[in-house]
Amino acid sequence: MSNLTINEKTISVSASPDTPLLYVLRDELGLNAAKYGCGLGQCGACTVIVDGAAVLSCVTPLGLLEGRRVTTLEGLGSADAPGPMQRAFIAEQAAQCGFCIPGVMMRAQALLDRNPNATDAAIRAELQPHLCRCGTHMRILRAIRRASDERKAKAADARSPQ
Ligand code: FES
Ligand code: FES
Repeated sequence: MSNLTINEKTISVSASPDTPLLYVLRDELGLNAAKYGCGLGQCGACTVIVDGAAVLSCVTPLGLLEGRRVTTLEGLGSADAPGPMQRAFIAEQAAQCGFCIPGVMMRAQALLDRNPNATDAAIRAELQPHLCRCGTHMRILRAIRRASDERKAKAADARSPQ
């Protein structure tokens, strides 16, 4: 039995410690946003955030996650109430088939949490682990730029005197 925190909820999971997190999310917990692309750590489709860092859940065994904080795309918002990153991707119509997009959004979220002033070059470099066979790369970049700009504008508003 492993105890971990997923999307702010503490959860006990019965899968064996060598089970990849991706299988636990999808098969045990019904959290289907993270996708199975390659299962080999080579496409980025399964990316989630663990303690603030983007992690490939298909090659991360459950046993490494005891007491860690996992965030999946479901933790950023829902279809009815999308969060800022999700809204930016919708506004830029960044998804074509959409299969790569959950993983991309999670890595982008981790990047902006760590570096709200990430340059376009930094965003491009960060996204290297992600494959998008639809070729919607420029829309993805615009979406992350939009999310970053909106976040900075909100922070500036919060700082300005009323
Ligand atoms: S499914 Fe994990 S990197 Fe491809
Ligand atoms: S939108 Fe289809 S793989 Fe990226």
